[in-house]
Formats: sequence, structure tokens, C-alpha cells
Amino acid sequence: MISSVLPTYNRAPLSFVQGQGSWLIEADGRRFLDFGAGIAVNTLGHANPELAQVLKDQADTLWHVSNLYQIPAQQKLADKLVVETFADTCFFTNSGTETAELAIKMARKYFSAKGQAERIEIITFEGCFHGRSTGAIAASGSEKMTAGFGPLMPGFVTVPFADHNAVKAAINDKTAAVMIEPIQGEGGIRPVPDQCLKGLRDLCDEHGILLIFDEVQCGVARTGKLFAHEWSGITPDIMMVAKGLGGGFPLGALLATEDAARGMVAGTHGSTYGGNPLGCAVGLKVMEIVSESAFMDEVNRKAALLSQKLEGLIAAHPDVFESVRGQGLMAGLKCKVAPIDVVNAAYAQELLTVPAADNVLRLLPPLNICDEDIAEAVARLDAAAQQVSGDG
Ligand SMILES: Cc1ncc(COP(=O)(O)O)c(C=O)c1O
Repeated sequence: MISSVLPTYNRAPLSFVQGQGSWLIEADGRRFLDFGAGIAVNTLGHANPELAQVLKDQADTLWHVSNLYQIPAQQKLADKLVVETFADTCFFTNSGTETAELAIKMARKYFSAKGQAERIEIITFEGCFHGRSTGAIAASGSEKMTAGFGPLMPGFVTVPFADHNAVKAAINDKTAAVMIEPIQGEGGIRPVPDQCLKGLRDLCDEHGILLIFDEVQCGVARTGKLFAHEWSGITPDIMMVAKGLGGGFPLGALLATEDAARGMVAGTHGSTYGGNPLGCAVGLKVMEIVSESAFMDEVNRKAALLSQKLEGLIAAHPDVFESVRGQGLMAGLKCKVAPIDVVNAAYAQELLTVPAADNVLRLLPPLNICDEDIAEAVARLDAAAQQVSGDG
């Protein structure tokens, strides 16, 4: 008999009933160290007192009003995002997938508003992940995500990961945009080299097409810059943000330049809940905290500590781990075994990690994790690796 929750996930037999900072407490009382953070969501840990207070204050004041009216909390968060980034304007959503949908619509509308309605194609990259809507799975092009869901939305061309010549060859008079994660998350913490991002910017400028960055997983200080593309020194025309922005409250934002957004006039897009006062109040607090330079310095210091400890772990377990990659507190351990075996062994050590494609184990702790918890996580990974290699 089918479970009352649609069984689209292979769930671990763990039920967390409480969160405290970087720790999750299981119904049976065990304390798990959380190096998944809800897949890069709990930016500031679980039950963060500052975020909880803002949420409570907003809940006591106003929960929901329609986007038919001005929403002061939304305006404040939009202003903050515009001040902190390349963007001139934002649209709020409840998830990353919805930002992908709007990015696709915005790119097409940009050209139709310019009288070039034939420009509808978006170039994407093998291994990418932009969500689970029909548009987002078509964008990924992968058999795994699209099988059985056809006919797929047309207008996507998928090229090999970070292959400049393939992008160049794919651009034609129907191309509207290039859409890329500066660091692939689900694809296995695969950073796109800075040179490649710069090359994409040049190509897009040369052909007058839009550059869309999906920073749903790598954004909001995760990499040690507010947004991952900042490491490369170039900016996109459109950027997708979600996950970490709400720190655990469902919130996403599509950011764009004024030019890229030129087609999105009144009546072209909307959302009942997007930009809800509760989400925006929390998002503003998250942004205020993570955009402080002292906070970012700490993310980078802790990232260096984690990476140094992971190098030691790899050296101690060359039969289990191959290399470490990523940026900031978005780390990927390339494994020589199936990453799910390490994830399961880590459960036994009361440590949460997340598998990804390309045989990679993801480590995505809260950004305010303390040094002791970093050391503890690596010690638990060491014990898990011993178990996997059979000498534990
Ligand atoms: C890069 C990227 N884009 C889009 C999404 C979709 O976001 P959501 O699950 O919030 O719809 C994800 C989710 O993992 C993601 O990692």
C-alpha cells in the first residue's frame, strides 16, 4: 500500500524532533552533527535565536497580504539585495525551482519585448540541476530526471560541463541565454573555473544574450563571498537565489538587471505567497548577518580549517577518498567508494552528510559552525571511513 506521503524520496530512518545550532536531535535522543544543513539551507544553524525572534515578531504583527498591495518587509529585503549585488530588481518566490521558471520566462520575454521572439533557446550544462518543475527538468536534459515526463518543454540545449567551445558552437540566432551554476551542487560540487565564467560573460556580451547564474545552492555566503560568482569578478544579468536566503524559511529570489527585466511588466508574472512578510522578515535578517565582513572572514577562516582537516582525512583513507573540491563551506569529497556507503556509515557516527553525483560526498555545514564542531565532524568522518574500508 502506498504511504500517505508520496514515496518520491528514499528516506533514512531518522526523525529529527529538534534543532540546536549545528546539531539535530533524533526522537530517541541521539544528537547528530548536521553537515548537510537541509542541503545548504540552514545558513545560521537550527533554531537560530535571532531568526526565531524576527519570525515571532513578524508572526505577531502580519502573516500574509497579497502582492496586490505594497509589502514593506518585501521592499526592505529587495532593497538590501539590490544594494549588495549587481541587480536592480528582485522577484520573490518560495523555492529555487520557481526562480528557474521565472529566469526562463524572463529570458524569453526579454527578446520578445525586443521584437526577437524567435530567440527562445537556453544553453545549459551536463550535470546541472535547476529544480523539478517541467521547465527545470527540461533545462537539465538528464534522462534520470526527465524519463516518463515527456513531452519536454522545448528550447534547451545541453552542452558538456564548462566546455567553452561547445557553448560557442551552440549559440545561434535562436539563443536567448546561458544558464549555469557557478558551482554545481547536485552535480557533485563541481566549480566552474573563473576563466570559464569570464569566457561565458564575453560570449554573452558578444552575441547580446543573457547570462543566468543559478546560485540557489552556492549563494548567500556559502562560498565565502556573498555570491559565488563574485570570486570570478564578473556579474550575470539574472541570478537565481533560494535555500540559504531564508535560513530554513521557504524563500527564493530572482535578481536581475533593469535591462534583463525589461519585458516583465505588470501582469506578466505573479505568486500568491512569494514575498510573504514572514519569509522576507527572516530573509532580511539572514542577509544583514551574512553580509557583515567579519562574518564572511569567519566563513573563509573556517573553510580553510575544514579543507586542511579534509586533506588529512584523505591522506588517512586513500582507499575511501580521492580529493576535496569546492569553495568555502561548500565542500565535496570525491570518493573511491559509493558516497552513499559513507553517508550510511556516517549516520552510525551520528553525522549527517549528503551524497551528490560524480561520486561525491557533500559537506554543507551551517555557516556559523564553530571550530570544535568542524573537528568533531572530521573525527566522525574518520570513524565512518574506517567502517567503510572494513578496518573500523
Ligand atoms: C542549483 C539549484 N537550483 C535549483 C534548485 C531547486 O530548488 P528548490 O528545491 O528549492 O526548488 C536546487 C535544489 O537543490 C539547486 O541546488
